[in-house]
Amino acid sequence: MMEEGFQSPKKRGKIAVFLSGRGSNFMTIHDAIQEGKINAEISLVFSNKEEAPGLNIARERNLETLFLNPKLYSSREEYDKDITREVKKRDVDLICLAGYMKILTPYFCDNFKHCIMNIHPALLPSFPGLHVQKKALDWGVKYSGATVHFVTADVDMGPIIIQAVVPIFQDDTEDTLSERILKEEHKIYPEAVRLFFEGKVEVRGKRVYIRE
Ligand code: GRF
Repeated sequence: MMEEGFQSPKKRGKIAVFLSGRGSNFMTIHDAIQEGKINAEISLVFSNKEEAPGLNIARERNLETLFLNPKLYSSREEYDKDITREVKKRDVDLICLAGYMKILTPYFCDNFKHCIMNIHPALLPSFPGLHVQKKALDWGVKYSGATVHFVTADVDMGPIIIQAVVPIFQDDTEDTLSERILKEEHKIYPEAVRLFFEGKVEVRGKRVYIRE
């Protein structure tokens, strides 16, 4: 069987950011766009949380925002169908999950194959899920880091685009480690988005090749 392939488009792209919280990764992507480092615009900042600080920041930056209340939907799939409609309406090329704390349904992931990225605060496939900085400390691993990956229905298991490694020190707490990892997140997430719209990201099976 032929191995399925994907090549990212070289174009001025449209991005939708999904977030549920403070939005620091969203800001670094938007900053990189404004500095001319990423050839794209943010067409939508979406949240499942009305009070997400990141939504307010997006409004302050004059970006279009949207909140849909999950409690008004009968199922996760119905919710994701509405989000799909909103994203498609805006002709979005890439969805950047930036602290979006709701698991996407297979319906949604299948609609946007190789068009959803996520940032995760650990070196996947180690420590998927939540509270992973604490899990890394509890395991006693000596290194952790951050991973930018494509999103598939298999949570935190999609093709890995970029990783950054940080050391873990004996006196680290969850907070100090999270802070060290976050600094790396802010470097590799905009970098992955930049490469995507420069047409340099190629996916074959589980492997991602950066064609510089
Ligand atoms: C980050 O640690 C990211 O890795 C994880 O959620 C957190 C979001 O932080 N997916 P922020 O909202 O971007 O500041």
